[in-house]
Amino acid sequence: MPDIIHLLPDNLANQIAAGEVIQRPASAVKELLENAVDAGATEIRLFIQEAGKSLIQVVDNGSGMSETDARIAFERHATSKIRNIDDLFHIRTMGFRGEALASIAAVAQVELKTRRAEDETGTFIAIENSRVTRQEPVAAPTGTSIAMKNLFFNVPARRNFLKSNTAEMRHIVDEFIRVALAYPSVFFSLNGNGQELMHLDKGSLKQRIVQILGNSHASKLVSVQENTDYLNIYGFVGKPETAKKTRGDQYLFVNNRFIRSAYLNHAVMNAYREMIPAESFPLYVMFIDLDPSQVDVNVHPTKQEIKFEDEKIVYAFVQAAVKHSLAQFSITPTLDFDLDPSIQRLDAVSKPVSEEKKAAVASSSLYQTFTQKNQAHFIEPTNKSELRHWKDFYEAPAAGATGQPVGPSGSAATQPSAASGEQQPAPPVKIQPIENAPLQQLLNTYIVTPTNRSFILVHQQAAHERILYERYAAAAAGKTIPSQKSLFPVTLTLSAPDAIMLSELLPDLLLLGYTIEPFGKDSFIVQGTPADTGQGEERSVLENLLEQYKHFTSEIRFSKREKLIRTMARQQAVRPGNVLGEKEMRTLVDELFACQQPNITPGGDPTYIEFKKDYVEKLFGRY
Ligand SMILES: Nc1ncnc2c1ncn2[C@@H]1O[C@H](COP(=O)(O)OP(=O)(O)OP(=O)(O)O)[C@@H](O)[C@H]1O
Ligand SMILES: [Mg+2]
Repeated sequence: MPDIIHLLPDNLANQIAAGEVIQRPASAVKELLENAVDAGATEIRLFIQEAGKSLIQVVDNGSGMSETDARIAFERHATSKIRNIDDLFHIRTMGFRGEALASIAAVAQVELKTRRAEDETGTFIAIENSRVTRQEPVAAPTGTSIAMKNLFFNVPARRNFLKSNTAEMRHIVDEFIRVALAYPSVFFSLNGNGQELMHLDKGSLKQRIVQILGNSHASKLVSVQENTDYLNIYGFVGKPETAKKTRGDQYLFVNNRFIRSAYLNHAVMNAYREMIPAESFPLYVMFIDLDPSQVDVNVHPTKQEIKFEDEKIVYAFVQAAVKHSLAQFSITPTLDFDLDPSIQRLDAVSKPVSEEKKAAVASSSLYQTFTQKNQAHFIEPTNKSELRHWKDFYEAPAAGATGQPVGPSGSAATQPSAASGEQQPAPPVKIQPIENAPLQQLLNTYIVTPTNRSFILVHQQAAHERILYERYAAAAAGKTIPSQKSLFPVTLTLSAPDAIMLSELLPDLLLLGYTIEPFGKDSFIVQGTPADTGQGEERSVLENLLEQYKHFTSEIRFSKREKLIRTMARQQAVRPGNVLGEKEMRTLVDELFACQQPNITPGGDPTYIEFKKDYVEKLFGRY
């Protein structure tokens, strides 16, 4: 029998290895950007076509490569960054494996142009299937340009596995932002399909954060800065009021490398304990710098997970640093630092904030805005907890008995469940408010009205949300909402990521009555809005919409359109506290009961509570 083991040809071996490093266009973007940073570039430009599926190109003004280096750079394990295992524990560069370019060359058609400052001519190299197909001298500016075309052209299974352009572009923007945040002193630009989507001038970290996350964040950042012998922590955390319902703007970097760490994230969250409502997420952009020998970055192919020599101490430091920063801007000096004793001894932690310092801080403008309405530590009760209250109220006396007040659809009110939202069964007996019966608004929040079998308290906001949801869903399904032309078209200028997001939503927004046209870089003109949006409110309505859309709570389950519809319904619904006239109440109740599923909001909360006579009688001791 012949021997059966053989060595894989290089290109196949490279392709297999590439599976780990280059999973999608965004991974290639990350690798190329990191290489440019490692090459000492001060200007880095990223060009994308078709969400990276047809082109990813990074142009930098870094060191460039010699002809020989340029050629060898695409070999596996070719790196200029480490020489031996020891170096691995002193790494200051982003790269060290010598894998990235080899992987890229295995799964795309690559063109490299590079020149060092000291060389007169540069080098051009074209590679396909890991093989050099062309190499020649070329005139080129100092630095390197690497273009990869038709990613996964030779691995169709992987290509088919890619998500929509929208989804892949989102990943690319995420990677771009992570690198750009870590290097605020480097100029970055992102160009998508021929348009400049982001333009990030060199500046301070704070400026970079604001460039990326939007101007509105400028006054909401609190600086974190703790220097110790063991590690340094610096960056910015959001004031408690920036906490959002979804974790989005949370960035942690170790030695300038973006990492994911549930453990350290917990440390930050812990520092915010009791300052923000449960299940909400504060913004943070934090950098931990420590001796590279204290971290192992080689535990994951994409280097986004790392291992600390002493994880506990890093946790304690992070928590202390954040607490300390927040405390400086806080009104209550009661924040406790019940930490590891070794941490307690640190200057930054142990030195109490002096009275003078407190006084100085208290008069600063940052402090003033931070503690507006004295709410720094005020936790707003959420709707949910109020609902629980309701539950206690009507479950206790007559659980299971007929005639107890029931939420719409039987148990829906007692167990509101966002997850099962739309799957709730319809109410068994159709409940119908009595036509033309008087309506009464209570506490500017509820509408009370008799029905064919009971009386109900309709929650005006929840009911309106249901009505709008069904209206928007119908619009998206073809019954387009007419757009009323704005008398004075409004221009809207957004942060770059928001502009990208809005561009993606334009077709859906058109169905919902918004005529919005792109108008130069990151700007749009609002030509028309749905008839029920007041003129002059376009800007705030759209800005709010984007904000809420971005932080939509159940983002994964829904399509882009469903998310948009739900966000819009939630945003546009009338709020508690609004006084409603007789006619408005009538329309609200009539439209609610004309809905396909009148009993719950799209998120699964009840829109009304029903009080049956039997139950009310029981309360009066009449049974
Ligand atoms: N933009 C660039 N400018 C200058 N040299 C570069 C550039 N990109 C790559 N190189 C050179 O090519 C080598 C190989 O790059 P590659 O990304 O494959 O490996 P690496 O960065 O060393 O390690 P890793 O696989 O962890 O990224 C680098 O070590 C560097 O010397
Ligand atoms: Mg690299």
